[in-house]
Amino acid sequence: MTRQKNNYDKVARQYDWLSKLVFYRSLENAQLSLLKFIPAGSRVLIAGGGTGWILERISQLHHNGLFITYVEISGTMILLSQKRNIKENSVEFVHLPIEDFTPEQDYDVIITPFLFDNFIPERAQPIFWQLHDALKKGGLWLFADFYYDKEKSRWWQRLLLKTMYTFFRLFCNIEADSLFDMSSCFEQGKYTVIHKRFYYFGFIQSIAYSKPA
Ligand SMILES: C[S@@+](CC[C@H](N)C(=O)[O-])C[C@H]1O[C@@H](n2cnc3c(N)ncnc32)[C@H](O)[C@@H]1O
Repeated sequence: MTRQKNNYDKVARQYDWLSKLVFYRSLENAQLSLLKFIPAGSRVLIAGGGTGWILERISQLHHNGLFITYVEISGTMILLSQKRNIKENSVEFVHLPIEDFTPEQDYDVIITPFLFDNFIPERAQPIFWQLHDALKKGGLWLFADFYYDKEKSRWWQRLLLKTMYTFFRLFCNIEADSLFDMSSCFEQGKYTVIHKRFYYFGFIQSIAYSKPA
């Protein structure tokens, strides 16, 4: 039987503490800085949300009125996410790879937190355009991911990236072995950057993009 690509089942229960062990709170902070952009009452699509801690943090900002679709390839991540306190919001959990998900309506906000670093460029680009089509005109795309620039990034960032890819290939069968620069896709889609911040000595980026109206 072939193993599914990019499935975090094996590390799901350890993922949050492992990520804090290496990055302390940087992965979390990069995502938290984006949540203030979510308008009240919006329809939100989260792809690759992991253990679901982000649902609790969103619900602390919006106690009710959000309709969230939570698409995760990992069944264990979904199980953990279902235990989160979502207050009066509505969350639909979808256990599917995002590339197989067909939305019934468009979204006001799309969140991809450390999702695209899993994909090879040939898959990242079509998935980007699929999500682009699911986002309303003028909608927001909240994007957090690692950042690596061959010319400018430091040697330890290259080493850390290589180590992470080796680890996640072993445990999660992740398909990528290097980071694809997603900014080219957002440029092609004519998105506007409304917020951008770096964390962990420039190794992690957090960007709020607005889709053209
Ligand atoms: C690097 S982890 C990040 C988890 C979470 N966003 C966080 O920061 O704590 C990537 C997550 O994306 C999920 N994932 C990977 N490929 C996916 C796909 N094609 N569709 C949906 N989820 C996917 C994994 O199961 C995992 O939970």
